[in-house]
Amino acid sequence: MFEAVSAAPPDPILGLGEAFLKDPRQHKVNLTIGVYKDAQGQTPVLDCVKKAETLILDQEKSKGYLGIDGLSEFNRLAAELSLGGIVPLSRIAVAQSPGGTGALKVAADFLSANFRGPRVWCSNPTWPNHISLFEVAGLSSQIYPYLAADKCSIDFASLLDKVEREGKVGDVICLHACCHNPSGLDPDAQQWAEIAELTAARGMLPLIDFAYHGFGDGLEEDRVALKAIADKHEEFILCSSFSKNFGLYSERVGAVMAVCKDDGSAERVSSRIKQAVRSNYSNPPRHGGAIVATVLGNATLRSAWELELAAMRNRIHDMRSAFVNGMKEAGCDVDFSFLLGQKGMFSFSGLTPMQVDWLRTEKAVYIVGSGRINVAGITPGNLMPLCQAITEAMNS
Ligand code: LMR
Repeated sequence: MFEAVSAAPPDPILGLGEAFLKDPRQHKVNLTIGVYKDAQGQTPVLDCVKKAETLILDQEKSKGYLGIDGLSEFNRLAAELSLGGIVPLSRIAVAQSPGGTGALKVAADFLSANFRGPRVWCSNPTWPNHISLFEVAGLSSQIYPYLAADKCSIDFASLLDKVEREGKVGDVICLHACCHNPSGLDPDAQQWAEIAELTAARGMLPLIDFAYHGFGDGLEEDRVALKAIADKHEEFILCSSFSKNFGLYSERVGAVMAVCKDDGSAERVSSRIKQAVRSNYSNPPRHGGAIVATVLGNATLRSAWELELAAMRNRIHDMRSAFVNGMKEAGCDVDFSFLLGQKGMFSFSGLTPMQVDWLRTEKAVYIVGSGRINVAGITPGNLMPLCQAITEAMNS
């Protein structure tokens, strides 16, 4: 049977990470996967996480299974962090998941099992894995316009127009709450209000990917989309991730939250979410959830986390400015100041697939084929060689 299996194409993001690891060139630069790097190019373990781990190791008494929906304290604190003060927590069915991707997969399976073939609308462009995982779950994906032809703004009129004309009752719309991946372009508060109003009027269900909470403007500021959506929709799904804001990438910790109309419906939905989890991975791993619950549940650790998160956010912001200036200094014909208004880890550079290929083969600079740059991978050490290489690619 296996002889006839053809090889899958490499993953557009993780596949490049594998190629990067194999590249023997010392000066190589990795701006592919969305992972935070400090000024030394390391992905650090946060200090608050180390402290929480010490407490957990001291107190842990068992490695027994968690419940299907994970640690209840984690679920309460995760829901409070993203939706506290916006929606009564009793109306939310929450399950701890293996990362944000796990949350999206559970949400997709829940939708596929309980509703008749809902279509999922994804932004053009979106994180490529959105489309793959929705389709694997049996949901058909549709595209709504997002990035304008200038590649540095949102084509908001076309977005509204498409949803207005083609959105149907029972359709799902996948939205990035903040730090849109891959463009770094977020709607403003007014635009979120318009999106919420239109999608509610069309009877669509928002499925919100919240992978970068705290990487945009701050923990409170980054909830602007959630407030707008909750204002117009009684029901929506939120998939959050603690990979980036806690630096817990390999611990795989996230949460799927279904906001329901009332407590009774939340209980029933919770049972269906558990059913989706059970047939996927049975129950989530403990350690990452325990870290997040320990930090969020302890006032000292929580304040320390907020400071560490702000430091990550500010470093990325500083690197955006440094990159814009570096490109000027390197003599690039293109003005990159549009990057300054973008949020989170990513930016669309405007590099063509051919230029991206050239940068990888000739300069050992790794960028995703779409031209997405992980700004968090830029350091004072790699900045100028990077700007010179991109300038050479763009000017030639
Ligand atoms: C990314 O877009 O680079 C991150 O969300 C990591 C991933 O799993 O693709």
